[in-house]
Amino acid sequence: MQDQMINVCSLHDVPEGKAKTFVVNDRDIVIARYDGKFYAFDNLCTHDGGILGDGEIYDGEIECPRHGARFDITTGEATMMPAVADIETYDVHVDNDDIFVALSD
Ligand code: FES
Repeated sequence: MQDQMINVCSLHDVPEGKAKTFVVNDRDIVIARYDGKFYAFDNLCTHDGGILGDGEIYDGEIECPRHGARFDITTGEATMMPAVADIETYDVHVDNDDIFVALSD
């Protein structure tokens, strides 16, 4: 399946240090802004389905609001229990004010 760059939001939609959720092609995708860069990943914690888009970012990691698992927002790696499985991340491209994410059809 081919990835497509899909316009998810404007860079003004996501404040520095925050994460927000957007629905794209019936999927929940989180866009996070950290240190001036943008990252995209799935909105579902691999521990027990926590909503990562509602979480806070600490030192480049998103913390699940349910039980406190953390994931590296650049790689998706699970860095803190109780999650052990990584989350899916997606390539992000910024063009002028728009944020595009590489997603499969
Ligand atoms: S659902 Fe995310 S830590 Fe439990």
